[in-house]
Amino acid sequence: MKPWETLESANVPEVGELTLVRRGDEYVLRVRGQTLMSSRMHGSEEALARAGCADLVSRGTGRVLVGGLGFGYTVRAVLDQVGPGVRVSVAELLPTVVDWNRGPHLAPLAKAPLEDPRVTVIPGDVGLVMKRHSASFDSILLDVDNGPSALTHPDNQGLYGVSGLSTAAQSLRSGGTLAIWSAGPAAGFERRLEKCGFTVEVLHPHAHGTKGPRHVIYVGKLGKRR
Ligand SMILES: C[S@@+](CC[C@H](N)C(=O)[O-])C[C@H]1O[C@@H](n2cnc3c(N)ncnc32)[C@H](O)[C@@H]1O
Repeated sequence: MKPWETLESANVPEVGELTLVRRGDEYVLRVRGQTLMSSRMHGSEEALARAGCADLVSRGTGRVLVGGLGFGYTVRAVLDQVGPGVRVSVAELLPTVVDWNRGPHLAPLAKAPLEDPRVTVIPGDVGLVMKRHSASFDSILLDVDNGPSALTHPDNQGLYGVSGLSTAAQSLRSGGTLAIWSAGPAAGFERRLEKCGFTVEVLHPHAHGTKGPRHVIYVGKLGKRR
């Protein structure tokens, strides 16, 4: 088997070593040696976009917040299903990831979603973006770790507790949707979402195509405020 080739690496304060590696046509983003994203399978990252933005498909306008960027598959899937009047903010904690997405290795993977005029990149923590934007988004899509448990940065744990999920609820407009990607089922997470006012559906899309392992998407919907 071919060895992994390191294409890029960076030492990120408070996060540690970030590397972009390639073997054949597969690209992998690693944080402290652990895989955060692979280009081999991205069906469930696209399913996250479909589940989280289903209500926007028939509407001409709306606002979506995606956190974080990764290889851009979720952002691309949002853009491909919503109309020209929808605005998409992408919160990405690591500026290096944004730079790599604009470079020759990653840009082609998801057809350069950052070049779409509907997209704005917001550098920094998606949790802070939600705190700063009250009743602002129709959909919030979260895929920043490998599920509702911190991996990239220890502070991410705060996103998944009652306080973090309540912040997400407050950042959504009436009837909005919060969708969260997970590599597997997370005990008690559905109940926690319900406690924060969401009606929850749990989806199990295949990681890729119609075969192979399944990932989990938690879809929380808010009721319409009167
Ligand atoms: C698993 S990847 C996302 C994969 C993405 N869904 C895709 O389709 O390629 C996780 C991304 O979230 C970013 N991230 C981690 N913590 C974050 C945070 N608190 N706020 C914003 N972005 C974050 C990481 O740097 C990484 O780019």
